[in-house]
Amino acid sequence: MIMNHANILLQTILAVMNTMPEEKVAEISTTEGLGAVSMPDYDIPITSSPNVTDEDELEMKKCYDTYGCFSINYPWSSLKRPVTLFPESPAKINPNYCLYTRRNPTECQQLRLGDSSSVFRSNLMANEKMYFISHGYLETANKTWIHKMVSELLKKDDVNVVTVDWIGGSGPTYTQAVSNIRLVGVMTAHLIKMLMEEGGVNPEKIHLIGHSLGSHLSGYVGHKMKEFGARIGRITGE
Ligand SMILES: *[C@@H]1O[C@H](CO)[C@@H](O)[C@H](O)[C@H]1NC(C)=O
Ligand SMILES: *[C@@H]1O[C@H](CO)[C@@H](O)[C@H](O)[C@H]1NC(C)=O
Repeated sequence: MIMNHANILLQTILAVMNTMPEEKVAEISTTEGLGAVSMPDYDIPITSSPNVTDEDELEMKKCYDTYGCFSINYPWSSLKRPVTLFPESPAKINPNYCLYTRRNPTECQQLRLGDSSSVFRSNLMANEKMYFISHGYLETANKTWIHKMVSELLKKDDVNVVTVDWIGGSGPTYTQAVSNIRLVGVMTAHLIKMLMEEGGVNPEKIHLIGHSLGSHLSGYVGHKMKEFGARIGRITGE
């Protein structure tokens, strides 16, 4: 069995759980802002809350302030998914969003989370459709199929196309990438929220397109957008 960093983390957590006799709750949390120095995984502070005795309430989660908490309890862990990891930090995954339009069909205009000037300075057309394209496991946005899709979409219509690059979290391992995409989903929803608030984008005009784990991304984005009281127009997973 290959003992990578993630496996060691999981087993450490399980070992800690096993040595907590009557106290059935372990809450694991770190708070890391975007761009904050990420701390090593084995430094996660573990606190227990002695009063909860119901096994169902035993919750293991990791929190990244702006982006909230990520539980690895059911349904994230189950017989079908026995090994579940926490998403790595926002600073490590650091997704990159490039906007392309007919005015910049090949030159990336970066849209930056929390930086509204990156929206104002871009060629974003608030009244046109907006596509998001996301790659899957081990890939990047710098793939031939993505370049082709961007250029075909721009050829067909005068639209906005955003590529989502999450190479910082796309693996290996697959297990880690599966978990990281949950965080990329929340981060991308925050980006869309910024586009709505600062750029006047209508979420109904957004079409998310994803391949493989990029399809999971679309689901997570749609889910988070509901929390923000908005609905994504269309999702295509392949
Ligand atoms: C928690 O447990 C302590 C000691 O067992 C008890 O005194 C206290 O009332 C409990 N608190 C709650 C909220 O159940
Ligand atoms: C994209 O990939 C090509 C080769 O496939 C490489 O030459 C180029 O430097 C890459 N661009 C970026 C931004 O990584």
